[in-house]
Amino acid sequence: MQVPQHISIIMDGNGRWAKQKGHRRLFGHKSGVEAVRDVTTYCAEIGVKYLSLFAFSEENWDRPADEVKGLMELMFKSMLDERDTLLKNQIRFRVIGNTDHLSASLLAAIRKLEDETAAGSRMTMIVMLSYSGKWDILQAARHYAADCLAAGEQLPVDEARFSDYLATAGVPDPDLLVRTSGEQRISNYMLWQTAYTEFYYSPVLWPDFRRKDLEQAISDFNNRQRRYGKVE
Ligand code: IPE
Ligand code: IPE
Ligand code: MG
Repeated sequence: MQVPQHISIIMDGNGRWAKQKGHRRLFGHKSGVEAVRDVTTYCAEIGVKYLSLFAFSEENWDRPADEVKGLMELMFKSMLDERDTLLKNQIRFRVIGNTDHLSASLLAAIRKLEDETAAGSRMTMIVMLSYSGKWDILQAARHYAADCLAAGEQLPVDEARFSDYLATAGVPDPDLLVRTSGEQRISNYMLWQTAYTEFYYSPVLWPDFRRKDLEQAISDFNNRQRRYGKVE
């Protein structure tokens, strides 16, 4: 079986999962951490090199204030709780997103964990936090324009050079994108990077998602024929 080099997951359905159980939405988010741990350790075990997880979109800032606050607190707590698991499994931790919107304390905790796990060579886990695809393309374009201004000329740009301006610079494009909870849309996720990604939709709500569900997605991925516009 071919293991995708980069798997990305849109972790969706926490709110519905909690509602089904008669709980508040935040209970669903908290329960989702278990799924993150199981899927992350599984990916490291089978040889995935990059696992990116869509944890919070730019649009999610418009949710009720108590949910946003709860999610940020959960992110903070989870980083402390999962530190040892990451180190033990040699997993490098990274956050990609619009960090301008994050609190100074959360940002400091992120940088600390990124530094502590920097030597993790088995797999890189990327939490996409305060991220959106359009934001990423716009910030890349702005930085490119600023570099042109500084150089006093229009710099050559092609796909590879433009990719280097994206927040995901250096990370290979996802081979497989999984979205849970049955929704079949991209929700402003990695728009540029998913140009030739294989999509897999799972009906399972994120807090119930486990390694066996990801195994199914990978097995499905193995039956895909990636043509990149060419004729086989
Ligand atoms: C995904 O679950 C987590 C975030 C977007 C932060 P949701 O909170 O979107 O759950 P549903 O889609 O409302 O069930
Ligand atoms: C996408 O889920 C964002 C994350 C999973 C972090 P949403 O629940 O925000 O997406 P929509 O609103 O259903 O498109
Ligand atoms: Mg949702």
